[in-house]
Amino acid sequence: MKKYEKLLWEKYQKSGQPGIEERFRHALGVKKEALELIDCFGFPIDKNKAAVAALLHDYAKFESEERFREVIRKYKLDPEISELNPVVWHSLLGPYIIREELGLVDPDILAAVRNHTLGSPEMGLLEEVIYLADITEENRRGPEFEAARRLSRRDFYGAILVKVEALLKAFPGEHNRKLYQKYTEVKCRF
Ligand SMILES: [Fe+2]
Ligand SMILES: [Fe+2]
Repeated sequence: MKKYEKLLWEKYQKSGQPGIEERFRHALGVKKEALELIDCFGFPIDKNKAAVAALLHDYAKFESEERFREVIRKYKLDPEISELNPVVWHSLLGPYIIREELGLVDPDILAAVRNHTLGSPEMGLLEEVIYLADITEENRRGPEFEAARRLSRRDFYGAILVKVEALLKAFPGEHNRKLYQKYTEVKCRF
């Protein structure tokens, strides 16, 4: 696992941008949080995969806009991606960059990276764990994060719903409405 920590740190250092220490700490926090969630609920998830997905979920965080545009062109992706809030590019395009630069092709890990910001109604357990751990890891400070963290230990889907609700409030679009509907139903079943 140290291998991916090292690769992530080297990648961040190369970016020469401010805030890399904080972002690196966040990645370690998401890894710790994801493993704790898996243990807490006894989820049948490969912990090695979860650790790699957690460490790499923000791998493309400091990528340049030019590089993102190049990925969209190279893989002939929906040009509408470039119209989205740039904040989401690192998650949607991260899998392509991780595959190119690290040779990592595991579809579960790449899906967890892709969906960690926007989520998807088709998320599997690993994707859900990373989606949630991204906001409940210990370096996230603030009453709403702390409330979500506490909730996450007894009500996994309730905590996911907290994130979905916050996103729906901030971005009331079709995608978040679908997610909200799905996780409201899922929560009722648990
Ligand atoms: Fe992210
Ligand atoms: Fe993150």
